[in-house]
Amino acid sequence: MPSVLITGVNRGLGLEFIKQYAAAGWTVMGTCRDPDSASEAQAVAATSPNLSLHQLDVSDPDAVNALAEKLKHTAIDVLILNAGMMAERTGLGTFNAKDFLQVLNVNVVAPAIFIQAFAGHVAASERRIIVGMGSTLGSIAGNTSGGMYSYRSSKAALHAIMRTASVDLKDKGITAIAMHPGWVVTDMGGEGADIQVSESIAGMMSVTDGLSLSDSGRLLTYAGGELPW
Ligand SMILES: NC(=O)c1ccc[n+]([C@@H]2O[C@H](COP(=O)([O-])OP(=O)(O)OC[C@H]3O[C@@H](n4cnc5c(N)ncnc54)[C@H](OP(=O)(O)O)[C@@H]3O)[C@@H](O)[C@H]2O)c1
Repeated sequence: MPSVLITGVNRGLGLEFIKQYAAAGWTVMGTCRDPDSASEAQAVAATSPNLSLHQLDVSDPDAVNALAEKLKHTAIDVLILNAGMMAERTGLGTFNAKDFLQVLNVNVVAPAIFIQAFAGHVAASERRIIVGMGSTLGSIAGNTSGGMYSYRSSKAALHAIMRTASVDLKDKGITAIAMHPGWVVTDMGGEGADIQVSESIAGMMSVTDGLSLSDSGRLLTYAGGELPW
C-alpha cells in the first residue's frame, strides 16, 4: 500500500487524515508535538498497526532533519504539510512582532524546511506528491475582508512555496500543490464553520488521489476547484 506522512495529527484535520488514511489501509506516519498526550491519535494507533506516531515540533529545523534521517529508507508517496497556527491578535492595531514571526515560522519556514528535508523520500516513492495546507485566506486576489495579517500573509507565502517547489521538483517527478481544506469545524475553524472534518478530508484525499504531474503548482480546494492566487 502507499505511504503518507502528515504533520500535526493530534487534533483537527490532521487527526482525521490519519483516521481516514489508516482505514484505507495506507502506511501512515503522523507527527505531533506530544504523542503521549495525543489520546485520540493514540486510540487510532491502537487499532491501526499501519499507523506510527512520531514526536515533532515542526518549528524545530534540527528535529525535522533528524526525523528525515530516521526515515531515510522510507519512501513517502504523499507528504501532507498540515501543521499550522493562527495567532490570537491579528487585526490592524492589535498584533505584535513576536506572535507574527511565530506564525510565519510555523506556517511558512517549517513547511519549506520540511520540503527540503523530505523531497528525497517523496522522490523515491511511486506517487510523489506534496500537499501544503493552504487557505482561501491566503488568496491575495480573493481578499475583500481584510484583517488577519499574520495568518493571511503566512498562507500566501505558503502558496508561493508550493508553487516554487513545483518548479524546482518537477524533474524529480514530484507534484507539489497547495490545497484549501474548506472552512472546517476544528479548534482553528470554530464551531460556525461550513463543513465537518470528515467531508474535508474525504474531499482532499479524493483530489490528491487524482493528481498527476500536470497539476503541479496549482492552488486547489478540497472539492477539486481552483482558488485565485
Ligand atoms: N479549519 C479550517 O477551516 C482551515 C481552513 C484553511 C486552512 N486550514 C489549515 O489546515 C491546517 C490544519 O488546521 P486545523 O483546522 O486542523 O487546526 P487546529 O485544529 O488548530 O490544529 C492545528 C494542528 O497543527 C499543530 N501545530 C501547530 N503548531 C505546531 C508546531 N509548531 N509543531 C507541530 N505541530 C504544530 C497542532 O498541534 P498542537 O496541538 O501541538 O498545537 C495541531 O495538530 C492548518 O495549516 C490550517 O492553517 C484550516
